[in-house]
Parts: sequence; C-alpha cells; structure tokens
Amino acid sequence: MEPSPTSRLALAALPGSVRAARRHVHDHLRLWGLPHLIETAELVVSELSTNAVKATGFPTDSPSYGELSNGLNAICVGLYVAGACAVIEVWDSSDEPPLRGDADLDDEGGRGLLLVEALATRWGFRRVEGGGKVVWAELKVETQ
Ligand SMILES: Nc1ncnc2c1ncn2[C@@H]1O[C@H](COP(=O)(O)OP(=O)(O)OP(=O)(O)O)[C@@H](O)[C@H]1O
Ligand SMILES: [Mg+2]
Repeated sequence: MEPSPTSRLALAALPGSVRAARRHVHDHLRLWGLPHLIETAELVVSELSTNAVKATGFPTDSPSYGELSNGLNAICVGLYVAGACAVIEVWDSSDEPPLRGDADLDDEGGRGLLLVEALATRWGFRRVEGGGKVVWAELKVETQ
C-alpha cells in the first residue's frame, strides 16, 4: 500500500508565518494531486495558524532584539491524507483550548473557528504529550 502523504513545517510564532503556512499547504496539496482542496485548505490553515500565533507568539513580525533573545515560540503545521480526508493541523505550545464562539455582527473577532467549522467536515483539538496541543480540521478529499 502507498504510504499516506504527510508533511510538517515548524515555524516561528510570528504573524508572517501564517503566509508560510498557507504556502506550505498550497504546495503540498498540488504535489499530492489535490488542487481542488487548496482554496479551502488555505483558509483553514490561515485561521488555525493565526490562532496559534495569537496564543503563543508576538503580535508583530519585528519584535525587538531583546525580546528575541528571550526566546521565540514555535508553531507547527501538519498536513496528511487519511482515507477519504485531508487533515490540516497546527500545533502550538499553549495548553489553552480553542473555544468556538458565536460571534454576532458587531463583534470584531471570534469568527475564525466558525469559518473552520463551516468549511471542515470535522474539527477538534488534542493535547500533545510533552506539551501544547494540536488543533485539527478535516476536509473531504472527494467532494471539495
Ligand atoms: N490555538 C489556540 N490556543 C488557545 N486558544 C485558542 C486557540 N485558537 C482559538 N483559541 C481561543 O478560541 C477563541 C475563538 O477563536 P476564533 O479563531 O474563532 O476567534 P478569534 O481568533 O478570537 O477572532 P478571529 O479569528 O475572528 O480574528 C479565541 O479568541 C481564543 O480564545
Ligand atoms: Mg482566530
């Protein structure tokens, strides 16, 4: 049996890494012959990686040297195909769970996970041995 394609990319927990996460997902889905998933997958990984950066990182791409010398957190984007689904996951070092709200029209934020829920067949999170958690979302390979 062909091994399922899998990829992983560790990134700094900085806002600019969201673009790199999107690019990674885009390139791998194209490579794996799943170009029809790219648009949706890019939206999902943008929301999940933005949340991961917010939970653990700097709000700017140019923290001061002093801040940098105190250490930079990482996030990690994972992508794999399991059966009929492509799974996008993002690890961060925070133990706080993602909390899907129900944003109304006046709210400035709180829509990211609502969007993920609308686009994915399922989403969830799991804590990781050694620390942090992975937030994941599944897309159906056939029908997207
Ligand atoms: N990776 C995460 N780690 C910790 N908390 C998270 C994570 N992802 C989401 N959350 C929590 O869940 C809440 C809802 O996330 P969601 O993405 O829906 O909204 P938001 O990030 O607050 O706003 P928006 O995505 O619309 O800019 C967040 O405000 C945060 O409290
Ligand atoms: Mg968000």
